[in-house]
Amino acid sequence: MRYRPGPADYRPPRPEPLAQRPGLLELLTRLRRNPLECWSAEFFDQPIIHIKLPLMNAFVVNEPGAIRRVLMDNADNYRKDPIQRRILSSGFADGLLSVEGERWQTQRRMLAPLFSKRTVNSFATAMLNAAERLADEWTRLGNGAIVDIAAEMTLITLNVLAMTIFSDGIGEDLNEFRSAMNTYFGVIGRIGALDLLGLPPAIPRPGGARLRRTMGYFEGIIDEIIEKRRRRMSASGSEQPSDLLSLLLRALDPSTGQSMSLAEVRSNVLTFLSAGHETTANALAWSIFLLSQSPEWRAQVQEEAERELDAPVDCLAERLIATRAVVEEALRLYPPIAALSRTARRADILGDFYVKPGSLVVIAPYVLHRHWRLWDRPDVFDPARFLPTARSAIPRFAYLPFGVGPRTCIGSSFALQEATIVLAVLMRRFDLKLMPNARIWPMQKITLRPATGVPMRVASRGAQIGTILLA
Ligand code: HEM
Repeated sequence: MRYRPGPADYRPPRPEPLAQRPGLLELLTRLRRNPLECWSAEFFDQPIIHIKLPLMNAFVVNEPGAIRRVLMDNADNYRKDPIQRRILSSGFADGLLSVEGERWQTQRRMLAPLFSKRTVNSFATAMLNAAERLADEWTRLGNGAIVDIAAEMTLITLNVLAMTIFSDGIGEDLNEFRSAMNTYFGVIGRIGALDLLGLPPAIPRPGGARLRRTMGYFEGIIDEIIEKRRRRMSASGSEQPSDLLSLLLRALDPSTGQSMSLAEVRSNVLTFLSAGHETTANALAWSIFLLSQSPEWRAQVQEEAERELDAPVDCLAERLIATRAVVEEALRLYPPIAALSRTARRADILGDFYVKPGSLVVIAPYVLHRHWRLWDRPDVFDPARFLPTARSAIPRFAYLPFGVGPRTCIGSSFALQEATIVLAVLMRRFDLKLMPNARIWPMQKITLRPATGVPMRVASRGAQIGTILLA
């Protein structure tokens, strides 16, 4: 039976599912405007849906067993499809997000230690310091200042990555770097007719020349930094920075003992920056927006932050239980990667469907996370689902903000730790009120972001920062 929301339930904004599937022309228009507006009601209700596109078959899969088959048990049969590869990893062809087969296996093994629990935990202080610095800037703006939370979160997540990858600085203007990142995302983010018709990525897409210029800019900066770091690492007696770049340069292939090529190091630095920047920023922006609509959860998060933030930083994110539940609920309602897609290499069976070789298989966390058969009150904001006592009720493969299986996000613990710590610091120090005229609307443009930002009024709560953090 379909859920009917009660009066106390907060249902955050989303496009209403269409009564019927759109025709091809309307689909293209909607895809261009906002892919979230393409989904019709049946997708939120049916386990698997078959769609006939002009040159291929597509399946949208919401059935946990079939998801497990595509992303885990039979993952070898499902390659990242050209649309996803072009969009998520354009230009970073040698990085972990893009490589396939043996090359992927080797890189994944080499990169795993960079995101181990211990290494990620060692970045907690950098994350805290970045959050406190942002909070100091907001304080300097004066009580009642208005900020765009979405833009501010994009800035802080880039700062955190810059600090954890290049702890001795980026050596260039971070603002220029950020604006190049924005150009990059602006150009690669469009799913157009050429993609839907299944034309190969080699056929030029609009904006290609701009993208190449931006890539040239990134490569120049990163190569310079790598070169400088290599010299520093080979100079005996000099103190070595302990950051992701050093770990990347030291990483060895366990079977051959070889390190990564310059192209691989550069591509992976850029992959971490691009894969970890907008995604985590959106998780934070949505969390802050959702808290602004829920006095009860805001109070819980503030009380928890006051209690935990002055204690030693070790395992801090694990103690911020309510804060983390809010982040996880934001990732459910607004998963930054709204859809994953794969191409079947050989024939397969998914549920009652025969999947021909070459078929496109889409697993859309945005749809899956709001599926009527898998979730209780799917459109309602309720972080309690993610509290330790309730979590086991969530079916495995029904919640996939970071994907699952061999290609699951390598940075998931980094992202969850960062979002939890930053959210706690900001909620401890400020009351953040949404501007009354703001229209918050989810839009999928590579990542699922607030379409026109999140303007908020910032009022200091007067809490003092723990001095240990900045010592
Ligand atoms: C809230 C933040 C994040 C979200 C929602 C997210 C989501 C995802 C998803 C869904 C995938 C799997 C794609 C697929 O299966 O096709 C993925 C892969 C990946 N992510 Fe993340 N990510 C986040 C943060 C990060 C961070 C912080 C980093 C690195 C610093 C990162 C690096 C990567 C890489 C390298 C891959 C490719 C893994 C592979 O193919 O082996 N991500 N991410």
